[in-house]
Amino acid sequence: DEIDKGEYEHFMLKEIHEQPSSIGDTFRGRISIDKTKIFLGGIIDVMPKLTQAKRIIIVACGTSWHAAMVGEYLFEEYARIPVEVEYASEFRYRNPVINADDVLIAISQSGETADTLAAIKMAKKQGATIVGICNVVGSSIPRETHAGVYTHAGPEIGVASTKAFTSQVTVLTMMAFMLGRKRGSLYDELYKQLIQELTLVPEKIKHILRSEQYIKDIAETYKDASNSLYLGRGVLFPVALEGALKLKEISYIHAEGYPAAEMKHGPIALIDENMPVFVLATKDKSYEKIVSNIQEVKARNGKVIAVVTEGDQTIKKLADHVIEVPDCHESVAPLLTVIPLQIVSYYIAVMRGCNVDQPRNLAKSVTVE
Ligand code: G6P
Repeated sequence: DEIDKGEYEHFMLKEIHEQPSSIGDTFRGRISIDKTKIFLGGIIDVMPKLTQAKRIIIVACGTSWHAAMVGEYLFEEYARIPVEVEYASEFRYRNPVINADDVLIAISQSGETADTLAAIKMAKKQGATIVGICNVVGSSIPRETHAGVYTHAGPEIGVASTKAFTSQVTVLTMMAFMLGRKRGSLYDELYKQLIQELTLVPEKIKHILRSEQYIKDIAETYKDASNSLYLGRGVLFPVALEGALKLKEISYIHAEGYPAAEMKHGPIALIDENMPVFVLATKDKSYEKIVSNIQEVKARNGKVIAVVTEGDQTIKKLADHVIEVPDCHESVAPLLTVIPLQIVSYYIAVMRGCNVDQPRNLAKSVTVE
């Protein structure tokens, strides 16, 4: 009965709403009750390899690739390990340099994506240690890896990934914190604080979900747009990419995600009064810079929909709409800020009469090249 829409009109909406519990399922049993330790049983055997890795390569496709990009920021910030994020399809057909002290992490909801599977087989042959982050238990990718962590998000039916993404990010966040602690780049007090922050995410998402009607009204305002831009900086840049992907996949509105500072090198030319610009602008170390990016958009009459930290007054005065998310540590901001973007995309697609759960030309799992 898990594969039932229940009270929801679409699987995607159901899966958006499941996120407080699916994220909880991802960290259940992996964070100690006193919230001071992280255990990832599936990667115990490769922990020495991981802690000593000279480099981590993450391969994935689609939404899983965006989760990988979040992972890159977190691993570098907290574990101080250099990370390269690769599209599996590009990686496998280049002649990539792979060393025996590299760890390759493959991220895949289905565990069946042909390019990702081929990429890990190739890296394995060349001696790398392969770790999987997959949702479907017993699928092909986990069977090819040396070790792995299941996301336990439960079955995801909607083609546009939502809860699988937040569970992938949750696993990567736990791995980054744990590796940081093991490598000594995270001191104990901060480690515990970060774990605590992560455990607060489900409640904070519940809070965001209570603004669904307000977000739906914003969707109504922009449902007829033909183009849109998503901006973010740092760990929220991949969230901008993911927000843009969600909108284009299900509503067929052209959407681009960009690092906010790169806007001046191209996308700024597109901004006019018809251009909705979604900006991820929660309080973090790049807050002042993102405020200037919003001013740049407004100076060109663009419409700004900003995702901000609760209580933000500065951006409220500048933006056309603000969507508030609870205050949080910046390491977990991707998990919160992606939620309103999923909801906006969902409602825009529904209002445009699109087949939300099965968008044209897309497949849930791409098992061919
Ligand atoms: C398809 C799906 C996406 C998914 C991607 C990668 O394009 O429509 O939602 O992100 O494949 O799938 P995977 O199962 O490897 O995460």
